[in-house]
Amino acid sequence: MTLIASLPVATEELAGALVEALGASEELDFPTAATTEQPDKSWVVDIYFEEQPDEATLARLVRDVMGDATPPILVAPLPDEDWVAKSLEGLKPVRAGRFMVHGSHDRSKVQPDDVAIEIEAGEAFGTGHHGTTAGCLAEIDRLCSAREFGSILDLGTGTGVLAIAIAKAFGKRVLATDIDPVATRVTHENAVLNGVGALIDAETAEGFGNPVFAAHAPFDLIIANILAGPLIALAGDIVRHLAPDGVVVLSGLLTAQGPAVIAAYEAEGLRLERSGEMEGWLTLTLSR
Ligand SMILES: C[S@@+](CC[C@H](N)C(=O)[O-])C[C@H]1O[C@@H](n2cnc3c(N)ncnc32)[C@H](O)[C@@H]1O
Repeated sequence: MTLIASLPVATEELAGALVEALGASEELDFPTAATTEQPDKSWVVDIYFEEQPDEATLARLVRDVMGDATPPILVAPLPDEDWVAKSLEGLKPVRAGRFMVHGSHDRSKVQPDDVAIEIEAGEAFGTGHHGTTAGCLAEIDRLCSAREFGSILDLGTGTGVLAIAIAKAFGKRVLATDIDPVATRVTHENAVLNGVGALIDAETAEGFGNPVFAAHAPFDLIIANILAGPLIALAGDIVRHLAPDGVVVLSGLLTAQGPAVIAAYEAEGLRLERSGEMEGWLTLTLSR
């Protein structure tokens, strides 16, 4: 049975930050969350669960984002209706660089110049609505337009959105890995749906703990949209698997976490080339 918690939120920014934080939460198994604007211009964040969540953890995660504005949280069974279709109504297409990420309900909105990526909101993270995904898409467009990359890794691929973007726009092969087998299955399905199944190798792996990395390394481009903690923990492995003139794009970190993540990669011999911010989330580009 699907459960729902509906939280009133004052602003679009806060609603977005809450969706991002919850969507990135391993503790709650990356719940699906959707925002809807109300007639009075306030927002509601609906969080969906397939099993009863740990309510103390949920309350803590919400409080981390909303502080004293945290409303009472009630997790209740969802009324019997097509909630996926309903929640998708609020998911408008997202544009970043030349990419447009959309659900099947918005196919008609694709413009001739768009590189369209069709992704349904569902079991894995990455519909383009998160500032980290959009930041990575914009940086992918910029980097891959300026330079040829041979071997490419999308670490923490979620829905596969970033790997699909690279394969569709630049015809490149991408190794797409995720700790979550559901994400790698969804990535494979999305790659086929988007016509780039042959270009994407989706593998389940925690960090670099899979022989598939040795077969593809060194990488000319590594993109990792995970979270600050894992990004710091993986700094050594990421840099060891990078080609001498390779580029790393990191996202999933809040602005305040930037200095710690940059320091971890500087300690491995990289330097910051570029830093972009979207909705309070940073996307960092580093090289040797
Ligand atoms: C924030 S989502 C990013 C999804 C997608 N790449 C995007 O940009 O929208 C992070 C993903 O990283 C995965 N992940 C977390 N820790 C990981 C690790 N140590 N190794 C590989 N994947 C990991 C999660 O399962 C999740 O699918």
